[in-house]
Amino acid sequence: MNTFYVTTPIYYVNAKPHLGHAYTTIVADSLSRFNRLMGRHSYFLTGTDEHGDKIVQAAGKAGLSTEKYVDEISGMFRAIWPRLGVRNDDFIRTTEDRHIACVQSMLQRVYDKGDIYFGEYGGFYCTGCERFYTEKELEDGVCPQHRVEPTFIAEKNYFFRMSRHQGWLLEHIRKNPDFIRPEGYRNEVVSLLESGALEDLCISRPKNRLSWGIELPFDHDYVCYVWFDALINYISALGGAGSEMYNRFWPSAQHVVAKDILKPHAIFWPTMLRAAGLEPYRHLNVHGYWLAREAKMSKSLGNVVEPLDMVERYGLAAFRYFLLREMHFGGDSSFSEEGLVARLNADLANDLGNLFSRVLSMNAKYFQGIVPVPEEMEARDKELRDLAEKSLKNFIEHYDRIKFSNALEALWELVRGINRYIDASAPWTLFKENNTARLATVLYTALEAMRKVALCLWSVMPEASETMLHELGGAFDEKGFRLSEEVGLWGGLAPGVRAAASSNLFPRVELSVTEDGKKSSLPVKGRKNIQTGLSKEMSAETRPSSSEALSPVDIDDFKKLDLRVGTVVQAAKCQDADKLLLLQVDLGEDSPRQIVAGLAEFYSPDELVGRQVVVLSNLKPRDLRGVRSHGMALAVRDASGLNLLAPWNEVENGSRLS
Ligand code: MSP
Repeated sequence: MNTFYVTTPIYYVNAKPHLGHAYTTIVADSLSRFNRLMGRHSYFLTGTDEHGDKIVQAAGKAGLSTEKYVDEISGMFRAIWPRLGVRNDDFIRTTEDRHIACVQSMLQRVYDKGDIYFGEYGGFYCTGCERFYTEKELEDGVCPQHRVEPTFIAEKNYFFRMSRHQGWLLEHIRKNPDFIRPEGYRNEVVSLLESGALEDLCISRPKNRLSWGIELPFDHDYVCYVWFDALINYISALGGAGSEMYNRFWPSAQHVVAKDILKPHAIFWPTMLRAAGLEPYRHLNVHGYWLAREAKMSKSLGNVVEPLDMVERYGLAAFRYFLLREMHFGGDSSFSEEGLVARLNADLANDLGNLFSRVLSMNAKYFQGIVPVPEEMEARDKELRDLAEKSLKNFIEHYDRIKFSNALEALWELVRGINRYIDASAPWTLFKENNTARLATVLYTALEAMRKVALCLWSVMPEASETMLHELGGAFDEKGFRLSEEVGLWGGLAPGVRAAASSNLFPRVELSVTEDGKKSSLPVKGRKNIQTGLSKEMSAETRPSSSEALSPVDIDDFKKLDLRVGTVVQAAKCQDADKLLLLQVDLGEDSPRQIVAGLAEFYSPDELVGRQVVVLSNLKPRDLRGVRSHGMALAVRDASGLNLLAPWNEVENGSRLS
């Protein structure tokens, strides 16, 4: 299939855009760019959700007419995206005529098929969620998301016969295991569907209670329920079912949402489509929450992070890179400026920026900035070429499976590989020895590998990627580059072109705390008045402790530790323990070892399967939350989180560390 259609949720206009909205939209943008690089025709939609009680209330609070209020906040969303490097093809608002017409035609279609009926209903309504809750779903009488007591409402309304499609939906999910991904969310939906009869969905509101909505085409006294209205945006933006754009893009539709709106997307939407006689979307990609101070970011909790503040302080490339690298898609992540700064300094300034700076300045010094003509490749050059091939292949595979963090990890294997290659090839010595032929090959090999890195990064940090390609003497050509063809290709960089003489892509920054307690960042070079440097929490965790901190041990003491390498053959979340994962690790023994590890915040079960880890295998077995754990997987913690240790290259399972 050569098309790709990606959407974000349409955001409620009751709050300004924050980091959570920015993340989902950057993910969708990144997917759209990646698919373009892969040669697919991509179409990317975002927009705003403007009907419902919640919006009317917010407008009232702001002292504005609802129309004026929705225009204002929708405008803020529309305006922020280009500043975050987001390039959407369309922006839909649910108050637009094209959407209203499409919703009415869908309603009529489902009504004509007999899947909408009139009835009476009483339920607990949470305005925050814009949905009814059953008594069972409430926690201590309050909405589990907003922690407020919902209002009991009983009235006559129209209902969508959602229950009729429950069997079909379950079957569809079973037959298409990646319909909802990652797996944890699919399982959640399957158990919800298996756990009992799905209730029909109330899809109207009487106009005498709420008039801010789309009128039902078959009853002028009612408006459409906001979720039934909102979900249809994914089709109305294409011009409605049967339009040319619909026929072209709908079969490849992928939605990106967070787990808060799993149910409407995984259950309401596919059954609505089914009832209207339309094909289901292809994938629902569900991510976790960005937490700030341990809680989901939200306006009501006052812990929102402003994306533009972060961009202003750390730059767009670092911000986007951090979001995509830090969150393991599916799980929750904590946002902290310390974490962002740590990644910026380590991955971008040290690894990538430094690589560009040193190789380009060597090329300027040794070849006057002209990309040299390489001679015959030696083993070390071929090794780097093979690493580039492997790394790009992995990058693509992970991206296609929405594993951005792993994709970037795979790409950084190449970045670090090029740095090692330069160290090992020592161009400065070749220069001293007048070995120009070898020097040319070494610099060309590094520059060509750097070009590949820069190209992949167009999905993540488009502007910086274009700068890198420019520095390498080329220009970004969206139509010309094909990432899939790059995998086995070597020599895309034309010798003879002029590359930049220097590069300063990602200066290191240091986080400082100002007198009023606010954080700010300053580039390390030329900074003035840095006050406290990194925060206490950060320095305690990441500053390497001095060797005096622990008393010396004998080699015999060390030998008591049986450290072995094994492969994770199975991984799953531990029931009732959010932070724990249950691993089965093949240590070359008769059967895999069961290890319970506190990794769930940092790794999803599926990304661990197949990976090698280092295990302290003679740790006495113990029970964690009632589950036997025999061994400990070793990891290192820094400000960016937890990093599992693994051997450089794959080794035989059971190999002992020495
Ligand atoms: N209007 C509905 C969606 C209708 S789609 C047909 C809605 N809007 S919302 O403004 O509340 O946006 C929710 C979405 O914003 C989440 O699903 C997620 O994409 C993003 N996020 C908001 N806060 C978030 C976090 N703290 N963390 C991650 N994403 C979050 O629901």
